Formats: sequence, C-alpha cells, structure tokens
Amino acid sequence: MVPTMGTLHAGHLSLVEAAAAKADAVVVSTFVNPTQFGPSEDFDAYPRTEAEDVKKLTGRGVDVVFAPNAAEMYPQGFATSVTVGGPAAGLETDFRPHFFAGVATVVTKLLLAARPHFAFFGEKDYQQLLVVKRLTADLNIGTEIIGRPTVREADDLGLSSRNAYLDGAARRSASRLPAILRYVVVALEAGAPVETALADGHTALEREGFEVDYLALCDAATLAAPKFGAARRLLVAARIGSTRLIDNMAVAAEA
Ligand code: PAF
Repeated sequence: MVPTMGTLHAGHLSLVEAAAAKADAVVVSTFVNPTQFGPSEDFDAYPRTEAEDVKKLTGRGVDVVFAPNAAEMYPQGFATSVTVGGPAAGLETDFRPHFFAGVATVVTKLLLAARPHFAFFGEKDYQQLLVVKRLTADLNIGTEIIGRPTVREADDLGLSSRNAYLDGAARRSASRLPAILRYVVVALEAGAPVETALADGHTALEREGFEVDYLALCDAATLAAPKFGAARRLLVAARIGSTRLIDNMAVAAEA
C-alpha cells in the first residue's frame, strides 16, 4: 500500500515504483484526511486532482486506487482516535498538536482496510514515518513500514504537494532551505558544537526570510535527544510567507 493525499508528484510515484517492485499487488490511497488539518490550516485549499492522479498511476503496476470520501472514512458517530507517544512528541506536535492523532487514526484505518504486507512512506515526512512505524508495531498491525528517500526538484527542494503554493520569490527562497540544511549537516559532521551549528542554521534561514518553527538535531530512530554514537537526523519546519515547509537530512553519528 502507498497511502497518499493525492495530487501525486514524482515523490509519490517513486513510492509506487518501490511498492510495485516488491509486492504482487499495489493499492494507492488518495484520501485528503480532514482530521490531520487544524481549524486554521489549508484543508479546503489543499489541491485535489483525482482524475489526474488516476492517470498518473496508469501503467505503474497499481491494482487499486482507494479514494473514499470523508463520510465513508468517518461515518456519523465515529468516535475513535489513535494517539501515539514516543516519536510523536515534540517537533510537529509543538506546532500542529492535532496532526499526529489525525495521521495515526487514518493510517490505522487504511492499513486495516487493505491489510498490506508492506506500506511505503516518504522520508520527507520523517517524524510521520517514525510515528507510523511505532503505531504499526504497537498495535500489531502486521504491515512492514518502508521509508523511502525524499525526491527533490532540480534545485534540491523536497517535493511536496504544498510547493504549489509557492510564488516566484517564495519559491526562490524555498530552494535555499536544503542548502542551509546541508551546511548545518557538514558543520555537525565536522564536529562543530551542536548549539552553534543550529544557531547558525537558524540565522541563515531567517536571513532568507523564513520564520523558523524548529531546527532540531534528534536521534534518527527515536527523535529523542541524540546519544553519543547514535545515527542522527536534522529536522526543520519553517514558514515562507503563508507556506510551511518541512525537510530533514541524515547526520552521521559522532565518532
Ligand atoms: O503523508 C501524507 O500524505 C498523509 O499524512 C498520509 C500518510 C497519507 C495520511 O493522511
């Protein structure tokens, strides 16, 4: 299974390709899940391109496109929510407190509906990937969760359906975000003090016009504070105009 919210781009299609290479049958869901949007977020504006999505999936080894509506997923009387601790704590949750309960609930429903052997998620939403791994293990769902690398534009911006909101100037600034992340990764791997590297990254983002929600170095497996010798991950969420971007990169363990 490849769970998506539709408006498919090359990042989604790389997940579909990986799924088709691994599994006998592939289900792609394209449900724009209302419960993961906050009241002041972009649920109504979120792009919806169902007919184009189905076209894009044609000839890619997809057996089923599951595109339910909100009433089918959340019928009257629906009263259950899946709440995840561990990797869901902090980062996105500090700024979008509703988000992971919405994601965890819908992903649980999608996986229980399709009962796939494997489900594919992009590393672009790195915290989401770890939350989904946690919930499938904790709830014995029996699906192996496979994370796949972020697909990037030619200028390095991570692909996201929300990139469609970026106009000329904001789009140019957005393309600086990965470069700043890479600069922080290089500094950290060269042994710069974590606080200094993060503060420099923060300043560089602000200089490009970003309002930074967080720029954090975490344990790559748990998102807790990194321990010496553990693989690390640098995660960022920052707003340019009215568009909020997230990204992340691997950082080698301290040696
Ligand atoms: O990453 C997404 O597109 C969504 O959060 C997901 C996993 C499909 C749940 O709605």
